[in-house]
Amino acid sequence: MAEKKQIYKCDICGNMVEVIDGGDGDLVCCGQNMALFEEKTEDQGKEKHVPVVEAVAEGIKVTVGSNPHPMEEDHFIQWIEAIDGEDTCRHYLKPGQDPQTLFKNLSPDVQVREFCNVHGLWKA
Ligand SMILES: [Fe+2]
Repeated sequence: MAEKKQIYKCDICGNMVEVIDGGDGDLVCCGQNMALFEEKTEDQGKEKHVPVVEAVAEGIKVTVGSNPHPMEEDHFIQWIEAIDGEDTCRHYLKPGQDPQTLFKNLSPDVQVREFCNVHGLWKA
């Protein structure tokens, strides 16, 4: 059973999907069930992933994480998103960019998640 805003990936082809509305069925790709990304919340080891949310004049600034996460070709933050009730605003990043973004007109009480291409899904 899939739930709204869950993120799934196909371990064979790499397709990644977000659930817009949940249903009773399993999500299947390449002939097998897709893998659910659990939202991780506690950093372990030296690389930090938990998003740090800071109120700024324009809205909120989100940085991944308490020590900036690497943004290398083979290991980087693919996107950062802010979930404000039903609405999701997602900013995509590329290697070489800073692991941070600005969401205008949002307050720090929104839910914030980010996705590392190696270490998966994290939330503040
Ligand atoms: Fe990572």
